[in-house]
Amino acid sequence: MTKSNEILCLKGVCKSFPATARGGEPIEILDSIDLALSPATSIAITGKSGSGKSTLLQISAGLLSSERGEVLFDGKKLNTLNDAQLSRIRSTSMGFIFQSSLLLDDFTALENVTVPAMIMGVGEKQARQKALHLLESVGLGDRLDHKSDQLSGGERQRVAIARALVNEPLILFADEPTGSLDERNAALIEDMLFQLVAEKQVALMLITHNTPFASRCDRVYRLHNRTMEVIR
Ligand SMILES: Nc1ncnc2c1ncn2[C@@H]1O[C@H](COP(=O)(O)OP(=O)(O)OP(=O)(O)O)[C@@H](O)[C@H]1O
Ligand SMILES: [Mg+2]
Repeated sequence: MTKSNEILCLKGVCKSFPATARGGEPIEILDSIDLALSPATSIAITGKSGSGKSTLLQISAGLLSSERGEVLFDGKKLNTLNDAQLSRIRSTSMGFIFQSSLLLDDFTALENVTVPAMIMGVGEKQARQKALHLLESVGLGDRLDHKSDQLSGGERQRVAIARALVNEPLILFADEPTGSLDERNAALIEDMLFQLVAEKQVALMLITHNTPFASRCDRVYRLHNRTMEVIR
């Protein structure tokens, strides 16, 4: 049984990939991974390049299926849901921030945050209000009408954070969210993420190679030899 306060729970998750693009003996990437994450809690997943961090995040978010084991999100078994159900859960309850978060090219910062809320059925006026508020809170109140390509890398990443939050997710999945930023912008994004965990009670699964960043999380793991080591 999952404890009711866990938002994400992985039990015995295993994953292999074919050795080459043409197939071949599968290579095991994850072996019996267990993990639990509660609201308002942050975990960091570290590990060498190729150790399976992004794979684990994708499985946790129902973007990739596992061969064995189960993933419970908010009490629902992800492997029993169809694509439409999974995509609905992702849009309503999960936020994503990647190293280079893709924004809609010909859209302004404001539109990039408004659109995902409208897709979820929020009326245009209310969606714009929400987006406006979020963009202000990430310090972009004076960049609302800038198109994606008129924003700096750090600004685009802040738009991505606002977009990830517009549907009030229960969990944020962040895969190297500061990987493409300079020190100052990276520090800004870091602070913002931990503030969200504390203030909005969201859970955070953070993947990072940056040790000081990881160590700000409540728990730190290292993926190594297909398994998770608890670092702290
Ligand atoms: N679709 C796929 N088909 C075959 N192999 C894959 C596939 N996706 C990932 N892999 C392999 O699985 C391993 C883990 O990949 P993953 O992207 O999870 O690593 P990572 O820990 O996120 O690495 P990095 O730090 O470089 O982002 C890698 O060896 C990768 O080549
Ligand atoms: Mg990765």
